[in-house]
Amino acid sequence: MRVLILGSLLWVFAALVLGQDDAYSPPYYPSPLTGRIKDESWDEALEKARKFVGQLSLVEKVNLTTGVGWMQGPCVGNTGDLPRLGFDGFCLQDGPLGVRNTDFNTAFPPGISVGASFNKTLMYERAKAIALEHKHKGVDIMLGPCTGPIGLKAAAGRIWEAFGADPYLQGIAGAVSVEGIQDQGVIANAKHFIGNEQEHFRIGPEWKGLGFDNVTDSVSSNIDDRALHEIYVWPFADMIQAGVGSIMCSYNQINNSYGCQNSYMLNKVAKEELGFTGFIMSDWGADMSGVAAVLAGLDMNMPGDGAAYGDGASYLGKNLTTMVLNGTVPEWRVDDMATRIMAAYYRVGVDQSRKEHPDGPNFYSWSLNDTDYIHPGAGGPDGSGDKGEMGLVNKHVNVQTKYSRQTAMDVAREAIVLLKNDQSDKNSSTLLPLKNVNKISVFGIAAGPDPAGVNCAPDLACSNGALGGGWGSGQVNFPFLSTPLEAISQRCIKEGISILSNTEYDPAPGGQFDLYARYSDVNIIFGLTDSGEGFASTDDNLGDRKNTSLWHNADSTIKKAASLNKNNVVVVSSVGPVNLEQWIEHPNISAVLFTPPGGQYAGEAITEVLFGDYNPSGRLPFTIAKNDDDYVPIVDQVTSPAPQDNFDRGIYLDYRYFDNNNIEPRYEFGYGLSYSKFKFGNLKVSEIQKPSLTLPKPPSLKPPHFYQNSSKPDPESAVFPSGFNKIPYFEYPYIDSTSNINSSSSQYPYPKGYSTTHRNETTVAGGGPGGNPALFKDVYSVQATIKNEGTQQGSYVAQLYVGYPRGNDTFDTPPKQLRGFDKVNLAPGQSTTVKFNLRLRDISVWDVVSQSWIVQKGKYTIYVGSSSRNTELKQTIDI
Ligand code: NOJ
Repeated sequence: MRVLILGSLLWVFAALVLGQDDAYSPPYYPSPLTGRIKDESWDEALEKARKFVGQLSLVEKVNLTTGVGWMQGPCVGNTGDLPRLGFDGFCLQDGPLGVRNTDFNTAFPPGISVGASFNKTLMYERAKAIALEHKHKGVDIMLGPCTGPIGLKAAAGRIWEAFGADPYLQGIAGAVSVEGIQDQGVIANAKHFIGNEQEHFRIGPEWKGLGFDNVTDSVSSNIDDRALHEIYVWPFADMIQAGVGSIMCSYNQINNSYGCQNSYMLNKVAKEELGFTGFIMSDWGADMSGVAAVLAGLDMNMPGDGAAYGDGASYLGKNLTTMVLNGTVPEWRVDDMATRIMAAYYRVGVDQSRKEHPDGPNFYSWSLNDTDYIHPGAGGPDGSGDKGEMGLVNKHVNVQTKYSRQTAMDVAREAIVLLKNDQSDKNSSTLLPLKNVNKISVFGIAAGPDPAGVNCAPDLACSNGALGGGWGSGQVNFPFLSTPLEAISQRCIKEGISILSNTEYDPAPGGQFDLYARYSDVNIIFGLTDSGEGFASTDDNLGDRKNTSLWHNADSTIKKAASLNKNNVVVVSSVGPVNLEQWIEHPNISAVLFTPPGGQYAGEAITEVLFGDYNPSGRLPFTIAKNDDDYVPIVDQVTSPAPQDNFDRGIYLDYRYFDNNNIEPRYEFGYGLSYSKFKFGNLKVSEIQKPSLTLPKPPSLKPPHFYQNSSKPDPESAVFPSGFNKIPYFEYPYIDSTSNINSSSSQYPYPKGYSTTHRNETTVAGGGPGGNPALFKDVYSVQATIKNEGTQQGSYVAQLYVGYPRGNDTFDTPPKQLRGFDKVNLAPGQSTTVKFNLRLRDISVWDVVSQSWIVQKGKYTIYVGSSSRNTELKQTIDI
């Protein structure tokens, strides 16, 4: 009891210091053992894992936990082999939108695009198609889905890898993606846990190189406990509930404790409260320590190295062996690390998948050559040393299928959001879809090919042409890129429409641009913005965008075209929210499309929407503001060695902030038009089960499992076997000699709160996968009818929002929060019923004092409609 009170007081304290640079993350030890919650879906896998791990020596267990080092294997991450058992190490590969660093793969549209589709089936199909390509390349662990960044900052570099600025949307998309990936026998990876909301200063040293010499530590994302649970951790709970095998901890600090050695986040939140059974790996180079990280709950370090990529000085590997041998880390901890890894392996069926590619990975992340160095990392961090043996590294296996092509195209189409579609003049119909046009002019750099090619290095950090995706590790090589100019041209050729184009940056007045713009029946003007991972930049956009304006002078191109012709369509291709204010109300700009990155079929998908072959059905997965000041800025100035990023908005993410402060956005979250007209009616809310105001006591924990042989192993057994042929800079689990295995555990400065006593009770919020099982029980069902009253077949997204009780004695909550969505396709005149189920967690708030979810008494409003602001139907329920 005292412990609980103490824990609560710590959080009240933490809540009070919210917004302060001294944000604090309380300690939580020991690291919970896996397999203690009741979750049948893991039982068989755990049994197999325990059998497997039970036969391993210490060095073999260590070898499962440690990457072999940067560029020491074919994949971006590789763990060691267990030759005695004929067990090959794991191949870990990016990423969330396709197989990175290879060829004959599909370049799928990224997370933000499938998020904009609001189509759960498509989310599953996309993940499945991507996972199948990974499997056929020989990948065991696919480094996605990404639900962090959650989308706090409009200009953040990697928001396009995730699904949109709402925890519910991210949670559903993440969970469905986990199922899509793991059903194919590939382990999914939920990343980045948590608070990786900007690229600036995500890793201190990376930014020194960019002129921020004072940064020594990573940025600290300072998040209050309520927002942490209701916003940032929320999607991870869904993915754990869906059985995700692995989680990637983030580069940044969370409340001034590094993401991969933060005992509160890893031990308490992920493993205790959310009952996570699988393993936690570090982001690449995010493991900052040995003992501290291991005790805090890190199970695998990637890519294995120490302070610098390729340094051969892992914090784990031989150091983990040493920690166990000298008693600093209990052996049950390394047993648990290995068990968690193998449990994921068996649960997902990687043993079966490997039978389909018995020769292991058939590609090579470091070049597309047939033959190359097998261990290029042997050359050392600067690559100057002897790289050793060469061999066949790339088999160039074509993993593209009709299914992956179809899925990539479906996502590209369904992601497109029609923002504006007015009549081009009073008595005519809307400008889109294009009809009766004989002359089209296409403008803007974003319409055509990039002069640097589709796969410019590094990792697509270039943007002088059509946007297929952002840049960084979340990007793949494109087999081709359908540009809008090319796709529209093909269409025009087929239909005998004349097409002119000008993609100059700043066309001279009175020149060709003006001529074309005046002459055409309609102008289509393209603009883009791009962003990516912090290790690369383009035009001084250091991962994060400098602002939310269109690039390449596009605003002025758009305004110029609008001044010369009354029929203009603007197509905005962007990784995130864009400022449209310079021209959005211009009477000559009748139609605007927002297209999130479309992958390899970007141009074709846009063309289908422009010409009406496809009726647009995408919805904005974030708010587009009128005023940039309403977005949360990137912390881009260094105020201390560890820059502090105080998440002052708390739970008021994206539309929650705009609604709560009565700020009129330009286009709200969930907004999007169609060529057809849809109408909602007949809202019905029924109780399935009376919601309890507090969580029931969770199921008790199963007894901890300890291995029979868990006595201190003989140090001699961990020494390099004689005659062992070492590869330079490779991370091995062996120690050189037993001479320094003599220190006693008392010499280690254990962190505050360190304990080795396992708990027999879990927290009230825990006890099941994703949290207390009651949270995932349906309490209300909601249904409404929707009718297509227009003349064109089309899909529509029904959105359910919940307004919690608001008043003096209630928790502050946003007016509305997304708690359901469903996409339906209807022929003209057709109607259907959409159904949603509200789970207990969908009406709960996180109470920092009781450290639990509670349901408040009062009036809840259930809204069903077409966007976060256009909620046609509403009904209240009393709890
Ligand atoms: C760093 C990125 O943050 C992560 O998302 C990626 O999976 C790894 N690098 C491996 O490339």
